Amino acid sequence: MLTTNFLDFDFSNPFMNASGVHCMTTNELDELAASNAGAYIMKSATPAKREGNPEPRYFDVPLGSINSMGLPNLGFDYYLEYALKQQEKTSRPVFFSVAGMSVAENIAMLKKIEASDFKGVTELNLSCPNVPGKPQVAYDFELTYETLAQVFDFFTKPLGVKLPPYFDMAHFDQMAAILNKYPLSYVNAINSIGNGLYIDTDSDQVVIKPKEGFGGIGGEYVKPTALANVRAFYTRLKPEIKIIGTGGILTGQDAYEHLLCGATMLQVGTQLQKEGPAIFDRLQKELMAIMEEKGYKTIAEFRGKLKAIV
Ligand code: FUM
Repeated sequence: MLTTNFLDFDFSNPFMNASGVHCMTTNELDELAASNAGAYIMKSATPAKREGNPEPRYFDVPLGSINSMGLPNLGFDYYLEYALKQQEKTSRPVFFSVAGMSVAENIAMLKKIEASDFKGVTELNLSCPNVPGKPQVAYDFELTYETLAQVFDFFTKPLGVKLPPYFDMAHFDQMAAILNKYPLSYVNAINSIGNGLYIDTDSDQVVIKPKEGFGGIGGEYVKPTALANVRAFYTRLKPEIKIIGTGGILTGQDAYEHLLCGATMLQVGTQLQKEGPAIFDRLQKELMAIMEEKGYKTIAEFRGKLKAIV
């Protein structure tokens, strides 16, 4: 059984799309809503519609993907309207993602969500690596602290943050200490590994146009980093803060590993882009098969139970 309780909502399974993949338009969102994903999240919104970076800006590679989309989206109001309509049709909550270009933009969007009838979950994306001239917010620890202080002055609905990957034990400790100060509902670890470079040696050229080819890396390349971040935050955050595991989920085995590290929900990016929403059926079957083989009836029996070597 894959049923998952997350922030007091019940989902049929833990799988979702990662924000940015198959979730920009109402058509794509409707396809996710009709799929066997347990839940789905919308494209990170900015206050107004945004074209994003010049194309080509996404490229599939054998072990994953590289992208520098630059937050193309149809604007905050478009997604709020969609979410409000959806919640009239179903009790399954929608996940809203916001990614303002400044603290003020994030605060303005979150104030609108707070004042609206939106009853779902909100994710504050502090980790987009692809906007030229805008560093990833959550690599600036003071700014993260200040942003969350301003947010929790008024925001009372369930809120999570999407984090970039960290690579240093001291950074896990420092970021966890900051997050533990706030009534956060969850942490989503990880966004793509920012500013990688993929080269096509037939043409001796980079494969995406923005930022001279530098872009966020996803897929198989990132799984060990994603697992480490899930584990590091699971073991450092107060238990009220749940974890969404994102990064390198291509199979039920990858999903199992994220759950073992402590994730409650699981987001799929690169492989959803490659396979489409039918992937959610395959992932569930593969995860169920692993659980059956190991004698687990529910995810709760093994979530977080990764063993260290003693
Ligand atoms: O470039 C993008 O739109 C990606 C956003 C993200 O990784 O959060």
